Amino acid sequence: MAEHPAYPVGLRLTGRRVVVLGGGQVAQRRLPALIAAGADVVLVSPEATASVEAMADAGEITWKRRRYQEGDLADAWYALIATDDHDANTRASAEAERHRVWCVRSDDADAATAWTPATGHSEGVTVAVLTSSARERDPRHTAAIRDAVIEGLRDGTLVAPHHRTRTPGVALVGGGPGDPDLITVRGRRLLAEADVVIADRLGPRDLLAELPPHVEVIDAAKIPYGRSMAQEAINNALIEYAKQGKAVVRLKGGDPYVFGRGMEEVQALAEAGIPCTVVPGISSSISVPGAAGIPVTHRGVAHEFTVVSGHVAPDDERSLVDWPSLARLTGTLVVLMGVDKIGKIAETLIAHGKSPDTPVALVQEGTTAAQRRVDATLGTVEETVRAEDVRPPAVIVIGEVVTIGPGA
Ligand SMILES: C[S@@+](CC[C@H](N)C(=O)[O-])C[C@H]1O[C@@H](n2cnc3c(N)ncnc32)[C@H](O)[C@@H]1O
Repeated sequence: MAEHPAYPVGLRLTGRRVVVLGGGQVAQRRLPALIAAGADVVLVSPEATASVEAMADAGEITWKRRRYQEGDLADAWYALIATDDHDANTRASAEAERHRVWCVRSDDADAATAWTPATGHSEGVTVAVLTSSARERDPRHTAAIRDAVIEGLRDGTLVAPHHRTRTPGVALVGGGPGDPDLITVRGRRLLAEADVVIADRLGPRDLLAELPPHVEVIDAAKIPYGRSMAQEAINNALIEYAKQGKAVVRLKGGDPYVFGRGMEEVQALAEAGIPCTVVPGISSSISVPGAAGIPVTHRGVAHEFTVVSGHVAPDDERSLVDWPSLARLTGTLVVLMGVDKIGKIAETLIAHGKSPDTPVALVQEGTTAAQRRVDATLGTVEETVRAEDVRPPAVIVIGEVVTIGPGA
């Protein structure tokens, strides 16, 4: 038979019977996509892997615990033949042929009437990769092409702008602590699709250098704010650019809702009727200690961690932090924006019962090339910060977890 290329098609399987013969690894790999497609899946197999059994227990598939019998494919629209019995597979594919049921075979691609492509999904698009003929079949190669396309779409290195669904508006993107690899794939893709990016000083600034030349990059700290507050000026800039029909990304350090004033921007945009989406980010409160070898919890050491802002001193009437209560907690205390006030903070914690020997670590510019860790105790930290010239941005970790890692 002449080798013609396979004809690609997307099957719409909702409510349609798909018969799977064999409950081993092949079924385990393929079933989730069939279930996701809404197929009425009937598995015929005397045995199944634990994961396949769990799908049957959850009612996602119907499992007939027996071997294949003639007639099993009669009502099927599509069949996956993957038993470890080659003869049974051959009989089943002959039955599929008679009933004109498209079937894939795990043991003999040549004998199959359909092939499963390597598939992946990204934002409403399914990418399916097939080799052109049985002779050229190379599943690893097709999977590698699929991965490259999906990865590229997700991280924005493969730019395919949306024409129908792209709506102007603002995306508030948490950029993570600074390492450009620590932004989410969604955040990275939105950045790649942006017309305007308004960025904070903290966060993955290296990513800005990768943006195409037509993208307008604005430093949030440099937005002129005349008589309004800086935050108000940023809100206004977001609204103005979005009103011009531009896709605007507000790139923030860490997570937008952890001391990031994210909700103020969401509220301002909502009031102006501008669509807004929020993309979470990896907060420095957990990731920066982690990057310096400090886990914020550890079995038998800390069963809680508390993240507080130290931007106003404990005795400042604007402070909303209950420092005396924090001094009584036994877990980890993570202080952001606390370098300038660390003396007062340490003094207050000691005054309310924390031992002056409590370990403290300051991690400056975590996850960046300039990352630096300085260790102290509550009793010595003020002097250490001065002597070592620790500067913001730094995350301060207070508690026994500081001493347990190999880097301590
Ligand atoms: C205004 S808060 C924003 C926090 C951010 N939204 C988050 O979730 O990480 C800024 C503070 O976060 C901390 N911070 C953020 N990125 C940091 C980094 N790469 N290294 C050390 N501290 C960082 C510092 O305490 C800094 O003063």
